[in-house]
Amino acid sequence: MPKYTLSINGQSQTLDVEPDMTLLWALRDTLGLIGTKYGCGIALCGACTVHVNGAPVRACITRVANIAGQKVTTIEGLATGDKLHPLQQAWIDLDVPQCGYCQAGQLMSAAALLANNSQPSDADIDVAMAGNYCRCGTYLRIRAAIHKAAGTSPNQGALWYDATTRTEQPA
Ligand code: FES
Ligand code: FES
Repeated sequence: MPKYTLSINGQSQTLDVEPDMTLLWALRDTLGLIGTKYGCGIALCGACTVHVNGAPVRACITRVANIAGQKVTTIEGLATGDKLHPLQQAWIDLDVPQCGYCQAGQLMSAAALLANNSQPSDADIDVAMAGNYCRCGTYLRIRAAIHKAAGTSPNQGALWYDATTRTEQPA
């Protein structure tokens, strides 16, 4: 089988995989990086979102052969050592996840947004996150957490879920 060398979360990795192997299965099955999730397999849900050279891509339709030599970041590489990415901290602070399945992809799309736009509006967030589905409906909390990480204010009355009182509160 051909070999492809990529930088994955800052480490050089040589993958000995078939030319049609997708990045999603290479990450999960070959490298054991199972934080990136399989949802639809056809680029519709966003669960598999990772960064290639800083841009969000759908790992389920990205072939390893097409990104040889490039830089991949997965949810496992979002933190810097023990220091969480500000988005990860905001996700914890606002109790964003419910089942959690979609959240790695959500975080990777959000991180790509903030890397390009440190002061996003509600509309900026909605556009950037439109391709990431959440069957649990955590969209309002996701938007509030992105604002929290960015230090910006929601302007459409975003809410977050207060797990203590079990009520929606203004973000
Ligand atoms: S699994 Fe890749 S977009 Fe749904
Ligand atoms: S938290 Fe369950 S699908 Fe998003």
